[in-house]
Amino acid sequence: MCGIVGYVGKSQARDFLLEGLKRLEYRGYDSAGVAFFNREAFKIARKTGRVANLAASVHANDLDGSMGISHTRWATHGDVTEDNAHPQTSSDGLFTLVHNGVIENFSQIKNFLEEQGYTFSSQTDTESLANLIAYHYAKEPEQNGKNRFFVSVRKALLHVHGTYGIVVMCRDYPGELVGARNGSPLIVGIGDGEFYVASDASAFAGKSQNVVYLNDGEVIHFDSKNFNIKTIADEAVEAVVQKIENRLEDYDLGDFRHYMEKEIFEQPNALQNAMRGRFSDDNSTAKFGGLNIEPHELRQIDRILFCACGTAWHACLVAEYMIEKYARIPVEVEYASEFRYRNAPLDKNTLVVVISQSGETIDTLAALKEAKRKGYRVFAITNAVGSTIAREVHGGVYQHAGPEIGVASTKAFTSQALIAAMLALYLGRIRDMSYSEGAKFVTALKTLPELVNNVLNQSDQILAIAKKYAQYEDFLFLGRQNMFPIALEGALKLKEISYIHAEGYPAAEMKHGPIALISEKCPSLFLATGGEIFSKTLANIQEVKARKGKVIVIATDSCEFPEDLVDDLIRVPDCHDALQPILACIPVQLLSYYIAVERGCDVDKPRNLAKSVTVE
Ligand code: G6P
Repeated sequence: MCGIVGYVGKSQARDFLLEGLKRLEYRGYDSAGVAFFNREAFKIARKTGRVANLAASVHANDLDGSMGISHTRWATHGDVTEDNAHPQTSSDGLFTLVHNGVIENFSQIKNFLEEQGYTFSSQTDTESLANLIAYHYAKEPEQNGKNRFFVSVRKALLHVHGTYGIVVMCRDYPGELVGARNGSPLIVGIGDGEFYVASDASAFAGKSQNVVYLNDGEVIHFDSKNFNIKTIADEAVEAVVQKIENRLEDYDLGDFRHYMEKEIFEQPNALQNAMRGRFSDDNSTAKFGGLNIEPHELRQIDRILFCACGTAWHACLVAEYMIEKYARIPVEVEYASEFRYRNAPLDKNTLVVVISQSGETIDTLAALKEAKRKGYRVFAITNAVGSTIAREVHGGVYQHAGPEIGVASTKAFTSQALIAAMLALYLGRIRDMSYSEGAKFVTALKTLPELVNNVLNQSDQILAIAKKYAQYEDFLFLGRQNMFPIALEGALKLKEISYIHAEGYPAAEMKHGPIALISEKCPSLFLATGGEIFSKTLANIQEVKARKGKVIVIATDSCEFPEDLVDDLIRVPDCHDALQPILACIPVQLLSYYIAVERGCDVDKPRNLAKSVTVE
């Protein structure tokens, strides 16, 4: 939540900051701001609405500078107004800063500073930090060899409770920036005679592949040539420079109208990338390079707890079905936000697995830290290489799905579901799954990208169906067994991008409540696969029809329906049971996407949402 971008170096900052902010808009987009600094006063612009509004104002006023900080906001404290947008400046005008996170003790800090004569012009928690730094700066004596700017930021942070990623400028220190992190990510990109700093390395894609990830409790000071990291408690920190892939072309929309559309159509590739190099030589099982655990240790695991938020939580439910079925290991799924405070009793041989596309979701991170603190081994399935979650866990699997920019998760979800299937295969094969069953599983997995492609080829038919249903205001998504998580995911997708009320339920559970909603005005989408429970799903569809509900069905090729039972039918290929949820998810995504477009919604930036939720 909230994106930060900063620059200091040999060039002018404007184009980089505005470009970087646009790329970080997925983190929040209710207002944006920038401050440039050469030698005299800060040049600040703040605008409500999108980064484009800010860019127009920056260009109109011809603002620029050899260094600058900028911010795209997802409001926590204070309404969406220009006054509450960042940067926030201390009342003495000496410091201006951008902040991602929440200062929990900001009222106490504010009260104290008001008594000291500092004034406030916003409702934000951030302004209290700008003034607190100014307060410590005023107290700090001039000393040879000490950078008073760096010292005051560090000292101010000693009094702050809460989460922050910040970047600060000081009017007495042209050409120098100070950043700090606690709970909200901050990454420094090293250039040639220039430094970039951002909440996410995508801001400096194409510019720098050498990065330093700040850890919690660290403060960095840098000018265009050097940087120095300390802990808030003033201990020296040896920086680790890491090389990452950070290609500009990954952020190119190409011919697509929205990132969500692009990412839906990227799924065959994303799935291929999740599998690349991950099958055993005899093609009977999966292999993973980063689990950091031996098979004999994994055999000791007798329960797995999956934790996540949002769409990633649905991927956990897919994992539950697959791992219980193929590896016969009991699985529990928890919302990370619940687990972290619940103090759940876990068996000593429990493995905890967190799933997070961004690797930065605060509740998921807190859940994993809680599990680690209790001594459990924790794995992650994550897309973001080098993310906080990736760095905290004992082992895990990278998705390699490429950056996901649309706020509604699509390719990240299917790749998480695929990795869950591969994990089920791997765990199954070190237990009771036979060689031939494993080999069949691998053969099926390898066909997945092609099968997904076949489903994507039906996009015109799905668009036509979307047009028919775009004006409804309620929807039910119903599925049994491994289709239940897809029913939940379908309902989430539709509601988050098109603002249609939608609920996902196990199909049979419909009779215990949701059936009351069914009428001509509330269509139901059923997810049906062949096999022993198909007749049960058919009965549920009959129940909806009997109440005049419209029925859309996403069904595998082998499902046969009595005439007139189904209003609209989308077919997906029959395939290995482990792949069915992934295939069925594709039409669900397309349907939601086309409905949202039809309703004129801002698909990539749905109202009130942000892609990476770094506040509780
Ligand atoms: C937000 C996003 C969702 C995402 C969830 C978890 O709510 O809008 O798309 O599923 O966070 O994010 P994560 O990065 O942990 O997978």
